[in-house]
Amino acid sequence: MAQSASRFNVNTRFSNWWYNQKNKIIKNIRIQDFLAKFPITSRIARKEGEAIFQLMTGFVDTQILFTFVQSGALKLLEDNPMSVEELSRKIGLDLKGAEILCRAGCALGLVRFKSQRVFLARRGVLILSLPGMAELIDHHSILYEDLSDPISLFRGEKETQLSKFWPYVFGQADSLSSSDVSKYSDLMSKSQFMVARDTIGCIKINKNAKWLDVGGGSGAFANELVRKHPTVKVSIFDVPGANEAENGPHKFISGSFFTDKIPTGFDTVSCIRVLYDHDDQTVSSLLAKIHSSLPEGGRIIVSEPMLGEFSPNKWGDTYFATYTYAMKTGTTRSPSQVSDFLYKSGFKKVKIFPSRRPFVTTVIEAHKN
Ligand SMILES: C[S@@+](CC[C@H](N)C(=O)[O-])C[C@H]1O[C@@H](n2cnc3c(N)ncnc32)[C@H](O)[C@@H]1O
Repeated sequence: MAQSASRFNVNTRFSNWWYNQKNKIIKNIRIQDFLAKFPITSRIARKEGEAIFQLMTGFVDTQILFTFVQSGALKLLEDNPMSVEELSRKIGLDLKGAEILCRAGCALGLVRFKSQRVFLARRGVLILSLPGMAELIDHHSILYEDLSDPISLFRGEKETQLSKFWPYVFGQADSLSSSDVSKYSDLMSKSQFMVARDTIGCIKINKNAKWLDVGGGSGAFANELVRKHPTVKVSIFDVPGANEAENGPHKFISGSFFTDKIPTGFDTVSCIRVLYDHDDQTVSSLLAKIHSSLPEGGRIIVSEPMLGEFSPNKWGDTYFATYTYAMKTGTTRSPSQVSDFLYKSGFKKVKIFPSRRPFVTTVIEAHKN
């Protein structure tokens, strides 16, 4: 025991020494100048420089995007290409401001210039075409307000705006005004489009399935499921007021998984973008309730953005983890962390599907026996 501890100390000392040497080499200006003379090393150095610049200035990019969306410039350019001057008049910007905005938008791939006119570039067209994208961009001003003092955010001291925007996660659904409910349902249902496509696209769906979408909100996922598989019978279980469909293709069962049992009579239960809104205790209790609601052989589908499994990634570990942290009740988890919760709640045969677009969602399926 003592021997292995001392070997560990030697290894640690060596690795600390090597770590210091390596950092000294990277910092050394003469070595940097020398390496800049060779094609491969100069390319690596330039890429690192660009990445640092990007890290430092990324907020400017998002604000340029925000201005294009908020001012209506993207939408106007979708209808007609126009000169910068005409655009500046239509969106009420100073001409110089509009010139800077358009050149910045061009550098970011949102617009392009041709014959003195501004056109939408492919990225701009895609942003307009993706349902919910403009609303998502717009609602980020709330997250950025919380991030304006990131140190106190990460100290956990700050009362955040996001935790007020998503108050339903505290289980206080009864205290929500109808305008709050419609604000979050609208954003959620519009941004559901890509999640639903990726989720439905990777799992096998039994045409006679009786499906319960827990936390299914306004039913965007349920409707897409029925559209693709018209014989599947889908119900939604969500807090009162989350769903207004009366004669839609799905049935709505109102209740709360904090206080009520999960309705029975279903062979498939899905939780789409639900678990990451909640702390570990709530997730354990919800999964245990779902497990007992299912018949033998029933299955659960979890679909939401997750952390990088083998190494941290930009969308899960940077964006979604910070977002759910700022919500105060949420936690973004890795596929294996979600799988552990499923196993501990009694589920078996857990399968993590390779994600087509991990920044949209990752899908996990598990069975009750
Ligand atoms: C992030 S939204 C996801 C909505 C939808 N599944 C989607 O992906 O668009 C989380 C959903 O969980 C629902 N929810 C939150 N707390 C709940 C509770 N205690 N019982 C039932 N549903 C709840 C919310 O009302 C909301 O519709």
